[in-house]
Amino acid sequence: MEPFRIKAVEPIPFPARAEREAALSTAGYNLFRVPAEVITIDLLTDSGTAAMSAAQWSALMLGDESYAGARSFTRFAEVVQDLTGYSEVIPVHQGRAAERILLGNVLGPGAVSVSNTHFDTTRASVEAAGATAVDLLADDRIRLGFGGDIDLDAAEALLADPTGHRVRCMVLTVTNNAAGGQPVSLSSIQGARRLCDAHGIPLLLDASRFAENAYLITARDPEYATKTPRQVAQAMFALADGCWASLKKDGMANIGGLIALRDRELAQRCRAQLIEVEGYPTYGGLAGRDLDALAQGLTEVTEPAYLRYRAETAEWFGRQLGKAGLPVVQPTGCHAVYVDAAELMPHIPPHELPATAFANALYLAGAIRVSELGTLVFGRRDPAGGPDIPAPRELVRFALPRRVYTASHLEYVVETAASVAAASAAVTGYRIVEQPDALRHFTAVLQPHEGD
Ligand SMILES: Cc1ncc(COP(=O)(O)O)c(C=O)c1O
Repeated sequence: MEPFRIKAVEPIPFPARAEREAALSTAGYNLFRVPAEVITIDLLTDSGTAAMSAAQWSALMLGDESYAGARSFTRFAEVVQDLTGYSEVIPVHQGRAAERILLGNVLGPGAVSVSNTHFDTTRASVEAAGATAVDLLADDRIRLGFGGDIDLDAAEALLADPTGHRVRCMVLTVTNNAAGGQPVSLSSIQGARRLCDAHGIPLLLDASRFAENAYLITARDPEYATKTPRQVAQAMFALADGCWASLKKDGMANIGGLIALRDRELAQRCRAQLIEVEGYPTYGGLAGRDLDALAQGLTEVTEPAYLRYRAETAEWFGRQLGKAGLPVVQPTGCHAVYVDAAELMPHIPPHELPATAFANALYLAGAIRVSELGTLVFGRRDPAGGPDIPAPRELVRFALPRRVYTASHLEYVVETAASVAAASAAVTGYRIVEQPDALRHFTAVLQPHEGD
C-alpha cells in the first residue's frame, strides 16, 4: 500500500461521454491537445507531475531568493554532492537544458556519443552539437531483468574501429526510458567504466530515474539484495565521471534539472554557457524555493519503503491490465506500464496508428490519458509519399506520476482498459491530416478512418 497518507486533495473532473467526444474532436484526435480539465486520470507522463511531501512544501518557505550565492543553492549542492560524490553541481531548469549545455561542451562536429539508448531530447542535443548518437542496447539482458543494459561487445567493437577515436563519451540512461524504463545493471556500468578507461573517454549518466534504477538493482541482482537503494545509487555514481538529470522525475518536484561533474574545468565551461542561457550558476533558471524542494525530494526519493511501493505498484498494475486482456510488456519497471497495441489490434496497420487508436479509445471510454509510443512518435514520413515508415513497436505507455494516484484510481483504469480491450475489434485507425516536420506527435492533427 501507499507508504503515505493524504493531506491536501485536488478534485478530478468527470466529463460526460458527449464532452469527451467533443474535446477529442476539437483536439484533432491528439491527446496532447486535450485540456487537463476534461481528463479524469492523467497517465500521460511521470515528468513534473509528482505530488510533493509536507516536508517539501515546508522547504519551499525556506527558499532564499537571493540572486547570487543563495542558501538554497548551498543546501541543494550539499545533497547532490553527498548523493553523487561529484564536487561540481550546476542547477538548470530541466533535463534538456542540462543536455544541451553539457553535451555541447563534450561533443563537437564529427564526434560520436555512444549509449544504451539516448532519450529523444538527448539525441537532439547530440545532433545539435554536430555529433552522431549511436544506441547500442543489449537485447539479451531483458531475461535477467536488466533490459536497459548497453551492449558492451558492440561498444568495444565501435571503440576499436579505426573511426573509434571519434567517440567522445559514453552515456548510460538509468533507467532506460526509451527501452520501457528497464534498469541498467551495476555490472553493465562497471563494464562501461572499463571501456571508457581503456579509451580515455568520460562515462556520463543520464540519471533522471537514478533512484528507480538503484531500487531495481537491489530487487533483481542478488549481489545487491542487502544494500539500500541509496548505497547502490552512490555505487552507480562512483563509477561515472559525471551526470545530468531531469529532476522532474526522481527529484520528486515539478521542475528542475542538474549537471554534476568531477571535472572542474569542464564544469567552468558549462557554467559560462549557463549564464548565457539559464541564469547565474547558483540558481540556473530555478527559484531558490525550487532548489529547496529538490534538495528535500532527492533525500526522500531513495527511501526503501517509497521505492518498494513504486515498483510494486507498477508490477501490480501491469498484472491487473494483463488479467484484463491487455498485452503488457514484461517485466515492468517503475515509472510506467507499456501495452502492445499492435498485438491487441492486429487489424489496424502501423500507418493507421494502432497505439493512437487505443489511447483515444481509452480516453473516450473513461477520460483516461495515456501516451502513444508507436508510429505517430517514432515512425517517419515516406519521402516517396507512401504510407509512413512504421516504428519498431506500437506501444501505449501508462505513465505513473509519483505519489499522485491511489490503487482505486488504477483499478478504474484497469476496468476501463478491459472494456476497450473487449471491444477492440471495432476500434478503427487514424490518418494524419496536419503535422510539423519534427516531434509531430505533440501537435499533429488526426482524423478517424471511419470518417472517410
Ligand atoms: C531519460 C530522460 N532524459 C532526459 C529527459 C529530458 O528531461 P526534461 O523533460 O526535464 O527536459 C527525459 C524526459 O522525459 C528523460 O526521460
